[in-house]
Amino acid sequence: MKKLIAVFMASLMCISLAACGSKGEEPTEAPAQTEAPADSEEPAEAEGAEAPEDNGEAAGDFTTVTEGVLTMGTNATFPPYEFYDGEEIVGIDAEIAGLLAEKLGLTLEIQDMDFTAIVTSVQTGKIDVGLAGMTVTEERLENVNFTNTYANGIQVVIVKEDSDIQSIDDLEGKLIGVQEGTTGHTFCADDYGEDSVVACTNGATAVQSLLTDKVDCVVIDKQPAISFVEANEGLKILDTEYANEDYAAAVSKDNDALLNALNTALDELIADGSIQAILDKYIKAE
Ligand code: ARG
Repeated sequence: MKKLIAVFMASLMCISLAACGSKGEEPTEAPAQTEAPADSEEPAEAEGAEAPEDNGEAAGDFTTVTEGVLTMGTNATFPPYEFYDGEEIVGIDAEIAGLLAEKLGLTLEIQDMDFTAIVTSVQTGKIDVGLAGMTVTEERLENVNFTNTYANGIQVVIVKEDSDIQSIDDLEGKLIGVQEGTTGHTFCADDYGEDSVVACTNGATAVQSLLTDKVDCVVIDKQPAISFVEANEGLKILDTEYANEDYAAAVSKDNDALLNALNTALDELIADGSIQAILDKYIKAE
C-alpha cells in the first residue's frame, strides 16, 4: 500500500507543478478531469450485485442518476481515501462506496473531478453521492445533505523538517498552502486572512510548493498528510492539531429516499465491522 501511494505521489508531482495561486488566481470550478475509465468502479465488491436485495422500506423507492448505478463523485488526489492505482481509483471511499452500492443493489461508477465541483455536482444531479473524505460543515449543509459520518478527520500542519514553525501558534504571518475549497482552506483564510493562504489544485501541489519554498507550511487532513510526508524527504507533521472533523457522503437535498437507503446500509456496515476493516486496511495504527 505504501509503495502504491508513493507511486501515485510521484506521478502526481510531475504533472502538478505551478498549480497553486494566491487568492483568485486559480481556476476554480474547472470541469472534472473525468478520466475515470469505464473500468474504474470498485472491483470485487461491486460485482454480482445486480439483483436488488430486499433491504426493507428504506431502500424502497430511491432513484439514482443512472438506473442501476450509484454514481460517486470524488477527487482522487487524497490518499488513502481516494487515489489512483494505475487507471483505477482505489482507497477507503472507493471501497466503502463499493459496499454501499452492493447493499443497494447498484453498480458503482466513480467520477473524478475537482474537489470544488463535488457539492455542485450533487446539487445539480450529475452524481448521486460525493464521497471524498468530505467534512460535514454548516456551509455545505446549506447545499447538500450528509449521510451519517463514517470516519474522523483531523487538520494538521506539514512543515519542512528544519522549519521555524513549531506549533499552530507560529502560523501567523506565514504563507500557508492548502487544497482549494477544503476546510483547511476555509479555516486558514478565516484565521490568518486570505492573503496568507495559497490555494492549490490538490494536496500534492500544495506539498510541492512547500518543497520548493513557495509556502511555509501546508494545512491538510492528517491521513493524506502522512502519505505525503512518507512520499517526500525532509517533511514532518506538527504534533498540534488544527481542527477535528467528521467525514460523510454528500447527497442531494431532493433525494431523501437515497439518503435513507445509504444511511441504513452504512449503519449496517458500521455495525458489522466492515467500515472499520476498510479503515484499518488503509490506516496504520499509531
Ligand atoms: N476534509 C476536507 C474537506 O472536506 C478535505 C477533503 C479533500 N478531499 C479530497 N478528496 N481531495 O474540505
